[in-house]
Amino acid sequence: MRNFKSILVTGGAGFIGSHVIRKLLINRPEAKVVNLDALTYAGNLTNLRDVETNSRYAFVKGDIQDAALIEKLFADYTFDAVVHLAAESHVDRSIENPMAFLQTNILGTATLLNAARTAWAEGFGDRIFYHISTDEVYGSLEADGLFTEETAYDPRSPYSSSKASSDHLVRSWHHTYGLPVVISNCSNNYGAFQFPEKLIPLMIRNIRDEMPLPIYGEGINVRDWLWVEDHASAIDIILHAGANGRTYNIGGLNEWKNIDLVHELIRLVDKALGRPEGYSKKLITFVKDRSGHDLRYAIDASRIEKELGWTPSIKFEEGLAATVDWYLNNGDWLDSVTSGAYQKYYETMYGNRE
Ligand code: NAD
Ligand code: TYD
Repeated sequence: MRNFKSILVTGGAGFIGSHVIRKLLINRPEAKVVNLDALTYAGNLTNLRDVETNSRYAFVKGDIQDAALIEKLFADYTFDAVVHLAAESHVDRSIENPMAFLQTNILGTATLLNAARTAWAEGFGDRIFYHISTDEVYGSLEADGLFTEETAYDPRSPYSSSKASSDHLVRSWHHTYGLPVVISNCSNNYGAFQFPEKLIPLMIRNIRDEMPLPIYGEGINVRDWLWVEDHASAIDIILHAGANGRTYNIGGLNEWKNIDLVHELIRLVDKALGRPEGYSKKLITFVKDRSGHDLRYAIDASRIEKELGWTPSIKFEEGLAATVDWYLNNGDWLDSVTSGAYQKYYETMYGNRE
């Protein structure tokens, strides 16, 4: 089991990163956590309001492609671990603007790898560079089969190919320079603080506001959904106990066709809002399919269970109901993201410190 004093988390103002930061501050009282985030449209510091005055937490606004900044951060904070989540993460945006994905996901990852290698040149010891990746690098499954850690890479969108490239870079820095690394590839996450352009928060918001529910194609695509806090727990465990050079798949063993999931969300939101059962079904709108839409993702997570003892802690029904409640009870958060008001939070809280 490793122990860290100073952890760099990249992309901590995003959906998963904010849960990871909270988890590390709670589970690892000996560690300082520095959050490096460029605050793109997906970065929202209000996700971390509850920890911002914690003396073991610091936020730095910056781009993972900025080599000079990262070198300085390694010098100032003497990180002994990096948890790298910063990325452009939305497939639809990658179809619209692939170059931003190549820049952040590929060049940004290479910049961080180089910075860690240089800063740790005197000896790697127990230090670790942990790269957070996605199951989408494995491509698309037909009706049967699961992605294992041995499945050949077959990325099919600009997002997934940029993440696949970054995984290859991480492995090559390990093999060429001996950099201690660990990688995990996770299935679709759901839970609080997810940017409402992704399926689940988008549908909850649109059901609440009686707006159209856009289903791509026929809604037959399948995703394996995992509660974000279970992903954050898996990340904490892999960071501290994952074997150097090893890859771990993380998943929920919880496959849903998009159309079935949207029906379940309609049921939960209508019930919570006191509407008649099935009231919002009329909002379902089938729209043009996503270009190159992957049919099915599903994860074999037996390695992380066998080697590190991790399994999801809650059932999907429980997690989904809690998630619906969270978005309905945090309408202000949803509205501030939708209106763009959340982007002013940095100015208010940190703007005068620059
Ligand atoms: P997100 O889009 O919610 O957050 C990404 C964060 O990275 C944001 O805070 C953004 O400001 C920051 N960022 C983007 N470009 C940056 C740059 N150049 N420099 C510094 N910061 C930058 O994403 P997420 O859903 O939290 O995903 C986090 C990571 O987990 C990503 O690497 C993603 O590929 C991976 N992942 C996500 C899922 C999922 O279901 N969301 C599943 C598996 C893996
Ligand atoms: P998304 O949340 O974008 O995650 P990913 O593409 O990384 O799996 O989408 C999840 C699934 O939902 C995917 O099959 C695309 C589909 N989808 C819709 O049908 N309508 C929508 O409005 C969105 C955002 C997604």
